[in-house]
Amino acid sequence: MAKTTEIAPNIYRISVYALRGDLQFNHFLVKDEEPLLFHTGLRGMHAEIREAVSRLIKVSDLRHISFSHFESDECGALNEWLIAAPKADVICGQVSAMVCVNDFIGRETRPVADGESFSTGMLHFRHCRTPHLPHGWDSGMLFEETEKTLLCSDLFHQTGDNEPITSCDVVGRSRDAMKAYQAGILAEYVPYTPTTAHNLKRLADLKPKTLAIMHGSSFSGDCARALSDLDAVYREVFGRETGA
Ligand SMILES: [Fe+2]
Ligand SMILES: [Fe+2]
Repeated sequence: MAKTTEIAPNIYRISVYALRGDLQFNHFLVKDEEPLLFHTGLRGMHAEIREAVSRLIKVSDLRHISFSHFESDECGALNEWLIAAPKADVICGQVSAMVCVNDFIGRETRPVADGESFSTGMLHFRHCRTPHLPHGWDSGMLFEETEKTLLCSDLFHQTGDNEPITSCDVVGRSRDAMKAYQAGILAEYVPYTPTTAHNLKRLADLKPKTLAIMHGSSFSGDCARALSDLDAVYREVFGRETGA
């Protein structure tokens, strides 16, 4: 059963642990005047996540659905959610809208440009375009400006069934996970590109207080430092020339 934890004021982490893969899938519900779901989850997890959402809000009252990039765990159940919550709009980056999502859902999304903001009521979100970070041309993150929570998708990916939120070393945990993935079919999870450091620096400059992480524990602490350290880890793990 999904586990729900409030990781920042009015931001709820709905977590499903998949034994196969030894991995948590985390979805974030913003309980506000206009409720927002960040990450739809996989189609195969939809019933479980919807049930968890229904404990927080009336599902049909969901007004916004958003995600970082076009991938099954981020937005695979988008069409199922749009049936369950017909009043919801889909907020995603302009590239995502144009190259993937409008066609996938058969209607227009609400595309947001880099730096563009929207409100859910008490909380205010800014879209940060981060191409190829964590991966995908269309990638972006949402930063909540009032409580300073960064919804950071696959950044800081950790394996295991972890505690909902921690102040421990999520960078070290993520380094271990990325190193292990490099030895298998999930190698090259994050492309280290000429813009990776710049994108991570822009996110660090927001000075988040909480990182809402998709796989593994959320983090509370010095998030700017964690983002800077993550760049060093990514450079170490993914930035080497292999000669292949
Ligand atoms: Fe991803
Ligand atoms: Fe993911």
